[in-house]
Amino acid sequence: MEMDLKNYWSSVFFLFLVVVLWLSCATAEIHFHEFVVRATPVKRLCETRSIITVNGQYPGPTIEARNGDALVVDVVNRANYNVTIHWHGIRQLRTAWADGPEFVTQCPIRPGGRYTYRFRIEEQEGTLWWHAHSSWLRATVHGAIVVYPKLGSSYPFPNPDREHRVILGDWWNEDPVRVIERALRTGADPNVSDALTINGQPGDLYRCSRKETTVFPVTSGETNLFRFINAGLNSELFVGIAGHSMTVVAADGVYVKHFDTTILMLAPGQTTDVLLTADSPAGCYYMAAHAYESAQGTAFDNTTTTAILDYLDPPPLHKAVANRTRQPAFPVLPDFNDTSAAYAFASSFRSAVPVTLPGPVDHHLFFTVGLGLFDCPPGQVCGGPNGTILTASMNNVSFQTPTGASILEAYLRGVPAVFTADFPAVPPVRFNYTAESVSRDLWQPTAATKVYQVKYGSVLEVVMQGTSILTSEEHPMHIHGYHFYVLATGFGNFDRRRDAARFNLVDPPLRNTVGVPANGWAVVRFVADNPGAWLVHCHLENHMSWGLAMVFLVENGVGESQSLEPPPADLPLCV
Ligand code: C2O
Repeated sequence: MEMDLKNYWSSVFFLFLVVVLWLSCATAEIHFHEFVVRATPVKRLCETRSIITVNGQYPGPTIEARNGDALVVDVVNRANYNVTIHWHGIRQLRTAWADGPEFVTQCPIRPGGRYTYRFRIEEQEGTLWWHAHSSWLRATVHGAIVVYPKLGSSYPFPNPDREHRVILGDWWNEDPVRVIERALRTGADPNVSDALTINGQPGDLYRCSRKETTVFPVTSGETNLFRFINAGLNSELFVGIAGHSMTVVAADGVYVKHFDTTILMLAPGQTTDVLLTADSPAGCYYMAAHAYESAQGTAFDNTTTTAILDYLDPPPLHKAVANRTRQPAFPVLPDFNDTSAAYAFASSFRSAVPVTLPGPVDHHLFFTVGLGLFDCPPGQVCGGPNGTILTASMNNVSFQTPTGASILEAYLRGVPAVFTADFPAVPPVRFNYTAESVSRDLWQPTAATKVYQVKYGSVLEVVMQGTSILTSEEHPMHIHGYHFYVLATGFGNFDRRRDAARFNLVDPPLRNTVGVPANGWAVVRFVADNPGAWLVHCHLENHMSWGLAMVFLVENGVGESQSLEPPPADLPLCV
């Protein structure tokens, strides 16, 4: 009898397992999208301009999917620019061909051309985003990716009553591609943006913008999930909402240990999900964002973008009040240069689940990240400081984007002279990286295309060390194809003997973009378990344009599951 019962229960359990497995396979979906990249007239700041969009939308369309789904995005280029699309934060396991950075994993889609990106979302959920990865097209070619939990599972917090997407961006009264091309030609700093935006709208504080200000409807007592994305090119942003505090629940598409805050700081590339309960008196409240400018004495966009939280209930009274005054309360934002506020916020992130840290470390890497200057070629006039050319580098190598073939293709087909595999593991010269004045001899990097090559499965620990060359500034460093544990960040020169004690080995957050504090450092660790060529770069677009980038080349492992898929037949080539 006892035996039978046991059998009975194990068959029930077995059946249950079969059903669960069947459900999880049967519910994975394939989502098809067509992205038509084209010029679109858009009116902002009193002027109508032609900008490059996807499907005529700015910001672009949101991609919604569930963890486990597959995406097929057919990108049709009807613009007069080369274009590629990157799926920021999607791991692209074995599908590096779909990652997007031009001349790293593919050649650009030429005007009139098309390319279909095919990839899976594997064990990821939360807020990610997509953006152009060619010149400065990202300014207007971007949108959200929202990955919901698998069917039958739910958020690790009570289901919110309402969800909102908040895409922070910046706006130029000029074609952003022109802005950077002119800067690179002259060696000068690119112009700063003319406005900051929330969901494509500058908001009440700018000319001709009041009518279009973004409104987020809320209802008293309800819980809202706000998904923030900083899609801007060059501004790190403080964000606040008057009269409300927020509970941070996720960042970069990974759940984190909850914490309460009244301000957020997002660097370009980062996402943050927060819960907000509409528990203030019914009315209108400003959401506002302005720059966190970590550099001293450089020009930056010091304007403030706003949106409005509008309580939908109880209608007559508050509508009357709101319409009469429409002077919503304004949040308190930290000062532009408030590094302690930015650092305190960035240091609040912890993993939501216990972490088994990968180890032992196979590659201890130490990369400097910072700016520099090239001398002006004889006979030319250059627009950088004292007639120089502005540049940037990692370990004194200023990344040169190849032109003849993508790095990934060159690697697999053995195309010579596209890159060299000698990116240095440590700076070629050790110096006092954060000194008040670094010798001018160290300001000029080497321009080259160098990769750091590792075996499949190696454990990498990277110290990213900011420098004070020219100006110290926070650098939001992004690694393609991976999420990494942020073990610690700090100020000054990293010193392993002293600073290893500060590593969070228990619950470090898993991110894809980490701010290396101004004149400071960040230490990250990850397993190189995704074969391909993976760009590492500062997500401030001006710095990336200057060469603040490098590439990890990760070899195939053993067998199909550890190897890159074959290149798609329609992969754009350079010829
Ligand atoms: Cu948002 Cu190269 O990345």
